[in-house]
Amino acid sequence: MPLIVWSDDFRFGIEEIDTQHQQLFSLINELHDAMAHGKGKSITAEVLDALVSYTVKHFSTEELLMQAHRYAGLWEHRASHQKFTATVVQFQKAYKDGSATLNIDIMEFLRQWLVTHIQGTDRKYVPILKDASAN
Ligand code: FEO
Repeated sequence: MPLIVWSDDFRFGIEEIDTQHQQLFSLINELHDAMAHGKGKSITAEVLDALVSYTVKHFSTEELLMQAHRYAGLWEHRASHQKFTATVVQFQKAYKDGSATLNIDIMEFLRQWLVTHIQGTDRKYVPILKDASAN
C-alpha cells in the first residue's frame, strides 16, 4: 500500500511542477516499499539517493521559475528548501554510515513535509507563475 497517494488536490496546472511532484510521491513510496519489505541496505540506499537527488533537482527547477517570475516569496521559499535538504542529507549520511535506520517515523516526516510544503508554501506561487505564463 502506498504511503502517499497523488490526487488532483495536489495538481497546480503547471506541468513541469506537477510532473516533478508526482515523481517525488513515487520515490517516497518506493523508499517506503523498500523499508516495509526489508529490502537490502544497498537497494534502500540507492532509492534514498534517488529521492535526495530528485528533491534537489526539483527545488532548483522551482527556484529558477520563481526567480524568472520575480516571485516575492522566493527567499523564504528557498530557506524552506534549504532546511529540508540539510535534514535529508544529514539522514542520508547517517543511514549510510550505520548510525541511523530507516523507520516509519522518518517516512512519516517525509510524507508530512511534502504534503504540507506543496499545499502551503508551493501553492502560494501558483497564481504568479500561472499569470506570467499566460501573458
Ligand atoms: Fe515543490 Fe517548494 O517544493
